[in-house]
Amino acid sequence: MSGLLITFEGIEGCGKSTQIERLAKQLPKVGRQVVTLREPGGTPIGEAIREVVKHPPGDATISPDAELLLMNASRAQLVQEAIRPALAKGAVVLCDRFYDSSLAYQGFGRELDMAKVQQAIDLAVGDTKPNLTLLLDIPLSVSQDRVSARHELTAELQDQFDESGANFFKRVLDGFHTLAKAEPDRFQIINGDQSLNNVTEEIWGSIQSHL
Ligand code: TMP
Repeated sequence: MSGLLITFEGIEGCGKSTQIERLAKQLPKVGRQVVTLREPGGTPIGEAIREVVKHPPGDATISPDAELLLMNASRAQLVQEAIRPALAKGAVVLCDRFYDSSLAYQGFGRELDMAKVQQAIDLAVGDTKPNLTLLLDIPLSVSQDRVSARHELTAELQDQFDESGANFFKRVLDGFHTLAKAEPDRFQIINGDQSLNNVTEEIWGSIQSHL
């Protein structure tokens, strides 16, 4: 069986992590080996980078260029250490974010030069590209409500991205839509603003032809 790379994208609170967990339980029932990973992170080096980019030390702020490079340093490590070996074994790799997040957040959100963002991505991923990208689409207002609820519920710390403001997230969301439109064969847009079970069903329907 050939390996399959499925990436999950969307703004904060879109429900990626929950749906990945559900899919990771479902796939072995149809005989597929599953590897779940996240970005930034997914390897010991990547997880250390995640901590720095989400919670910079003291009151330091990471510059947009440094953010781009750190995201892609984590990605380069993940591709080499985890994604390629898993695909070579025929696994289904479920990745919570991948390079579309750099295009959406660093390109559209931070408004870095897109060619520069693409260069960093190319260096990190080489020819390792997703077979399918699921964009869990929710309105900005739903994202804001879910993030506030999560902070209250878990006392989770605000991170560098939470502090970027509504205009930033509007650009990120519009950016994801632009990316999905540009590559309709790779992207599936999933309505993330419905019951968890309905989202799961929609995702399951979308991946059938790839299995
Ligand atoms: P999350 O995966 O828990 O949502 O946190 C990751 C944060 O990092 C999120 O705000 C999106 C951001 N991010 C980027 O800005 N660029 C990237 O390339 C990736 C993978 C994530």
